[in-house]
Amino acid sequence: MNAPTLQGLNLKTPSYVKNPRLIAWVADIVALTQPDDIHWCDGSDEEYDRLCEELVVAGTFQRLNPAKRANSFLARTDPSDVARVEDRTFICSERQEDAGPTNNWKAPAEMRETLQPLFAGSMRGRTLYVVPFSMGPLGSPIAHIGIELSDSPYVVVNMKLMTRMGKAVYDVLGVDGEFVPCVHTVGAPLEPGQKDVAWPCSKTKYIVHYPETREIWSYGSGYGGNALLGKKCFALRIASTMGRAEGWLAEHMLILGVTNPEGRKYHVAAAFPSACGKTNFSMLVPPAGFDGWKVTTIGDDIAWIKPQADGSLRAINPEAGYFGVAPGTNYHTNPNCMASLDRDVIFTNVALTDDGDVWWEGIEKDTGALPDHLIDWRGLDWTPQIAKETGAKAAHPNARFTVAATNNPALDDAWDDPKGVKIDAFIFGGRRSTTVPLVTEARTWTEGVYMAATMGSETTAAAFGQQGVVRRDPFAMLPFAGYNMAEYFQHWLDLGKKLSAAGDAALPKIYTTNWFRKDEAGRFVWPGYGENMRVLKWIIDRIEGDAKGSENLFGVTPAYQEINWTGLDFSAAQFDTVTSIDRAAWQAELKLHTELFEQLRHGLPAELEATRANLEQRLAA
Ligand code: OXD
Ligand code: MN
Repeated sequence: MNAPTLQGLNLKTPSYVKNPRLIAWVADIVALTQPDDIHWCDGSDEEYDRLCEELVVAGTFQRLNPAKRANSFLARTDPSDVARVEDRTFICSERQEDAGPTNNWKAPAEMRETLQPLFAGSMRGRTLYVVPFSMGPLGSPIAHIGIELSDSPYVVVNMKLMTRMGKAVYDVLGVDGEFVPCVHTVGAPLEPGQKDVAWPCSKTKYIVHYPETREIWSYGSGYGGNALLGKKCFALRIASTMGRAEGWLAEHMLILGVTNPEGRKYHVAAAFPSACGKTNFSMLVPPAGFDGWKVTTIGDDIAWIKPQADGSLRAINPEAGYFGVAPGTNYHTNPNCMASLDRDVIFTNVALTDDGDVWWEGIEKDTGALPDHLIDWRGLDWTPQIAKETGAKAAHPNARFTVAATNNPALDDAWDDPKGVKIDAFIFGGRRSTTVPLVTEARTWTEGVYMAATMGSETTAAAFGQQGVVRRDPFAMLPFAGYNMAEYFQHWLDLGKKLSAAGDAALPKIYTTNWFRKDEAGRFVWPGYGENMRVLKWIIDRIEGDAKGSENLFGVTPAYQEINWTGLDFSAAQFDTVTSIDRAAWQAELKLHTELFEQLRHGLPAELEATRANLEQRLAA
C-alpha cells in the first residue's frame, strides 16, 4: 500500500532548515506534484548507501562484483532516455530576442500553462527528495546554491557524487540566502498498487529555464544532463545569465593546472564541445620526454570564472564529480580516469561482463581481446558475432560513469579552494577533420573571441541527433548559453576591455586547438590524448616568453622545432598536415562564418564583423 498522501502538507521540515522562502516553495511544489512522501536529503554516506540499496531492490541498479568494482552500480535507462534532449530544451525569457536564435523559446506565461497540468500530480506514488547543493566550494565567493526537488532516487545519488550535496548547504543558505529552485520529475506518477518500472520516464519531455526568475523545471527524463539540474541547466544555462548580469563567466570548460620542471604552475581553462575529450585533457598524463611536468585536474566540464580587483580571473569547478562518457576511455586515452573508476562509481548504459564487471567499446585496447559474451546496455545478449552481424554496440555511445572528483589520482590540491585558481590561458578546441590548424594563439582578445565564436564541431553522441555533421558550436556553448549568443559574445568582449584596463599583462592569452585533422585517407594525423602535452607545453612556453612562434593568417603558431618531439615520431610533413592553411578551404569557411553572423545579427558585436572582414582581406591578399 502507498503511504498516505501529503494532503495536510506535513513537510517534515528538519529544524536546521531555516529559510522561509525555501520552505514555502517546497510546500508549493508538494501541493502541485502530490508526492506520497517527502525526504530532506542530508547528503550522508548512510543516506547514499540506503538509496543505492533501494535502487537495487527496485531493479534500477545492479550491484557490480565487489571484487572487481567495489561499491559500484550499473543502471540501464529506458532505451528512449539516453541523452540530453536539445530539441526539448527551452529558454523562456520574456522576450524572444533575449533567448536568441540558437535557443528554443516560449513566453514564460505560455510555458507555465503548458507545464502546470504536466507537473500536477506528477509525483503521485513517489517520494519527493529535497536535494540541497552548492555549485562550488561551500561558501566560496564564486559559488552559488541550488535546491533540486526530484522524485528520482537515481538523481539523488548522482547529485551526491556530482555536487557538494547535503546538510551543510543550509548553513551557507541561512535564513535569507539565495538559491536557484530546480524542480524535476520523471513524469511517471503511480496509481495506488501500480508496480513501478526500473527506469520510469515519460515520452513527453521538457527541460525549461526561466532566466529572469532563475528557475529550472525538468519533466519526463531521468537521464544525466536532463535530470541532474546542477550541471547543464544551472551551472551553464542559468549561471551564464547570472554571469552576464553580474560581470562573470559560466563556461563549458575544463580547468587544469600545469606545473613545469622549474616548479612554476599555470592554470588553463579549455572549452571543447561535448564528448570531445575534455575529461581526457583535464587528466592528461605527460608522455615520456616530459620529465618534471605535471598536469592536475581542477574540473573536467564546467568553469565559473570571476574577475578580481587586480584584473585577474579566478575560476572554480562548480561540480564535485565527473559525469563522463565511458566508451573510448581506456589506459591509453585516460589512465587517471581509469584509476578513478576502481570503486564507488555509478555506471549508466555500459555493458555488463559475465563476472559482474563493466565493459564498453574501446576498453578492449587494454585487454587486447573482445569478451566472448556480455549483456549489452539494453539488457540483451551481446557477442562479437552479434556485433559483427548487427553492428550492435555493447555500451550505448553516450554511456556514462558518475564518480566523485576525489577518486581522481590527478586531482589538483586547489580543486576545492574557495578562492579558485588564477586563469593564465583559455583554449577553444573545435572538432574539425579539415581547415582548423593544430594550435593558434590569438593576437588580441578580440581575435580570440572571434575564433571561439566561429568554432565548428562535427557532432557527437552527447546530444540526441544525427552524428558526424559539422555544426557551429560557438565557445562550445551552443546548447548551453542561457541567453542570446550574440550578446554572449559582447559579454566576452566587454570583460576583455574591463580586464585590460588593469593592464594587458593580466589578460589570459586565448588559443584555438584542433586535435582532429584527418589525412587524405580519412585517418587522424595527430595522436592526441597524452601527446596533447606537446601543445600544452608550447602554450606555457609562449606564456613564459620562451617560444617565438610564427604568424599565420589567424595568429601565432608554433614552428616545427618549437615543439618537444622527444619520444614521438612525428615528421615535419605530418606537422604540416595538421597545421597547413588551405586558402580555398578557408575562403569557403569564411562564408560559413558569414552565415553564422547572419543568423546572429541581432546584437552581434561590430568588432566581430570587422575581424571577419579583416580576415577575408588577408586571405585575399
Ligand atoms: C556533458 C555534455 O555531459 O556536454 O558534459 O553533454
Ligand atoms: Mn559537457
